[in-house]
Formats: sequence, C-alpha cells, structure tokens
Amino acid sequence: MTDSTDAKMDKIVALAKRRGFVFSGSELYGGFVGSYDYGPYGVELANNLKAAWWQAIVNEEANVVGLDSAIVTHPKVWEASGHVGGFSDPLVECKECNTRSRADHLLESIEVSADEKMTVEEINQVFDEHRDSLTCPKCGQKNFGQVSQFNLLAQTNLGNFSEDWTKEPTYLRGETAQGIYINYKNVLDTTRVKVPFGIAQIGKAFRNEIAPRQYIFRKREFEQMELQMFVDPDSEMEVYEKWKEKRMQYYLDLGFKAENLRWHEHENLVFYAKAAFDIEYNYPFGFKEMEGVHARGNYDLSQHQEYSGVSMEYTDPYTNKKFVPHVVETSVGLDRTFLAVMTEFYDEDELGGDTRVVMRFPKKLAPIKVAVFPLLRNKPQLVEKAQEVFAMLSKHMRTEYDDNGNVGKRYRRQDEIGTPACVTIDFDTLGEENPDHKDTVTVRDRDTGEQERVAIAELIERLK
Ligand code: GAP
Repeated sequence: MTDSTDAKMDKIVALAKRRGFVFSGSELYGGFVGSYDYGPYGVELANNLKAAWWQAIVNEEANVVGLDSAIVTHPKVWEASGHVGGFSDPLVECKECNTRSRADHLLESIEVSADEKMTVEEINQVFDEHRDSLTCPKCGQKNFGQVSQFNLLAQTNLGNFSEDWTKEPTYLRGETAQGIYINYKNVLDTTRVKVPFGIAQIGKAFRNEIAPRQYIFRKREFEQMELQMFVDPDSEMEVYEKWKEKRMQYYLDLGFKAENLRWHEHENLVFYAKAAFDIEYNYPFGFKEMEGVHARGNYDLSQHQEYSGVSMEYTDPYTNKKFVPHVVETSVGLDRTFLAVMTEFYDEDELGGDTRVVMRFPKKLAPIKVAVFPLLRNKPQLVEKAQEVFAMLSKHMRTEYDDNGNVGKRYRRQDEIGTPACVTIDFDTLGEENPDHKDTVTVRDRDTGEQERVAIAELIERLK
C-alpha cells in the first residue's frame, strides 16, 4: 500500500469497525477514552493470536509451563516490584484548557527526545528549553504548567473492605509478570520443572495512561502475553540471545515481512537490567514498540524475597550451586500484535474488474476459515444442503453460514474479514444441471478469486 500514514490508518480503523473487528469502548454512552471492544471477528483474531503465541511459547518448549494468576493481588506485590514508587509518566497541564498531556510526547512531536529514565527536574529543564515551541494538542495555546510525575497504576477497592478500607489501596495489575514472579516458588515446588524453566501467562493489564492514543496501540486496559524464564545467572545472556532470535523468527513464521520488523536497543538501561531490546513494527504511524525482550538480572525475585521474607534461592540439584535465578523476559501486547496483523495483511487489489479490500491473513490467524453459502436463500433444497455442509465443516474449523445478499456481496464481505475459502452450494450440487457434479461444491480462493469444484466428501481434507 502506498497510502499516506493517516489514510492507511483510517482505512484500517474503518474496516475494523465496518466488519466487526473493533468497536470504540462504551460507544453507546459517547465512548470511554483508551477503551475498545473486540467484535465478533476481532475476538476470533485475538483468540487465534493468543493460541499462536501459546503454541510457540508453551507447547513447543519443553521447559515452559503456563499460569493464570489473579488481576488484583496483595498490594505489597506492587511495592516490591517498584510500581508504587516509580511507575509513572511525566504529565503537564495546559493552563488554558486544562488538557493533560505527556511531556515526553509533546517533546517528541518537535523531535526532541526525553528519556524515560529522566528525573522530574531533568525533564522540566528540557521542557523549559523548548517551552516556546510546544503547543497544546487540544487548544493550540502555548501556556503549560510544570511537569509532574503521574503514577500509572490503577487503584481499586476490590477486596479492600472495612478493617483496612482507607489504610492501603489495592491495584489492578500493571503487568502480568508480577503474577508470575509471586508464583515462581509454587510452580517450582509442585511441578517437574528445574532451572532453567519458564512461566508464561496471557492476561489483562491496566495502566492509567495519560494519553492513550494511536487507536488500540496505547490503551488503558490491554492484554499482555508474557514469558519469564528463570535461569542460572551465568547463562542469562545465552538464554537472552536465544529468545531474542526466537521472538523475531516467530513473527517471520507468522508471515510478517522482514522489512516491517526491526530491533531497537534501549538507550539507558535500568540499573538492574543486563540488556533490553524491543521488536518494533512498522505501524501506519511508523516503527513503534510491539514487544520487549529483557534480561532483568535477579531484581524481581530479590525484591519479592525482601518484601515477603520468603527465600527465593534455588539449589541446583546436580551441582548444589545456590542462587536467586535471573530472569529473561519476553513481553508483548496482544492489542499491538492485533494492530500489526491488521496493518501487515491489509491489501487492496483488482479482481474481475472491481477494486476490493482483502485481508490476507495467514490461515491460522483468519477469524473465519471457511464460509458456506447456498446460491439462493429461497430454494429449500439449496438451503438444506448448505446447512448440512455447514454442520459438517463447523466440527472441524470455524465456519460461517452466510445467505445475505447475492454471492458477489458475500465474497466481498468474506474478503474483508480475510476468510481463506468460500464454499457455494448451487444447482450442480443437487445434480440438476450436470449429474457428474452431484454432491460437489464450488470452492473459491480468497487470494486469487479462482474457483474449482470439489466433492463434498473431500472438502474437509482440501480445506485443511
Ligand atoms: N513486564 C514488562 C512490561 O510490562 P512494558 O514495556 O511496559 O514491559 C510490555 O510492556 C508490552 O506490553 C509492550 O511491548 C506493549 O506491547 C504492551 N503494552 C504496554 N503498554 C501498553 C498499552 N498502554 N496499551 C497496549 N499495549 C501496551
């Protein structure tokens, strides 16, 4: 596609809404900033993305196991992790219209980079140097206050009743990783695993993003897919390099073009980290972080050891070496992968003299694998046969029955949701026009538009 950034983004957003992939959150009530709902095809695509990740990370790895930990945990978890004290974004308020913006994003808009590890004093200094060039994105005025730090953890009072009601807030988890760290010992003590081993988790995370933006790229409620590998300190970098390679290969295997992916190395590492690289994807608004691969040292387990008073030490059963395992993490947002997939596989072409939009999803990601149509909806014999074929296929793959409009319109709809094959039951199927074609159907290929006749008895094999 050669569209401009905005045009490409607009097309993806419009398609996602038109075809029931993504709806604005709480649209009925005028929307709710930073929130989106996945519609009937969106949830299928999201589930397929989660299944592909789980397959690669858990099923195909001999030493990785899964977990589903609670969203709301003991508040101490977030003190130990450092999120209560330091998980914040620099915020600045426009004195004219009271709109709050992220100071680093405003600076970014004039191509000044503010490092995420800067102190509030340092960022204020940079902000002051460029104050004259910075305008409020809402009202266009140049009248900002001072930059302050805004904590991203979302508070909740779930489970925080009477006795300690006002004493201590509880939080919605800011990342799924902490649920993994606090279960490291449970998994070690109850399963067959030995270091090196990994725990993987998929689940919702919440952040009070000051400026949710770029559609589903930066949401307040989002989903993460995270793997934490617990390793011997001496092999941390070797495991890190292995996972770096695996994670890039994962996207190539999914069908992403190499030119749309790149590595970005973090400029300033947090004090405990050994290495941090992001996989960036070429979104319609440019290359941005999709996934982080981090060598985190033993910071996480040491913090939980200190705050809980429970030893996190591991004794190697073969060498008797004792250590607090180091962590290699891969962390990706489901929503960012979703947007990358929508961008990567969106296409427009000409077919039979008509321009069409076609989502060229790989088969394993396609929300619907096959659509079944009766040629005409008012011919009971065609409908009955089509329903039989639907019942047969739907036991094997996600199948959609569609009898709306004419066949041309149905093809267009299925192309837009990326269905790899459409099966039409016509008069030939009934053997009315050509007895040789009895019990055969037309199978139409999404990418080429080519059609062929296939015997119903062979359909499942052919589609698989
Ligand atoms: N456990 C490490 C961690 O949470 P992170 O870089 O803050 O690291 C990891 O987040 C991934 O989660 C990011 O690479 C991104 O894909 C996704 N993510 C983070 N914030 C997000 C947001 N506000 N909306 C959507 N996805 C987000």
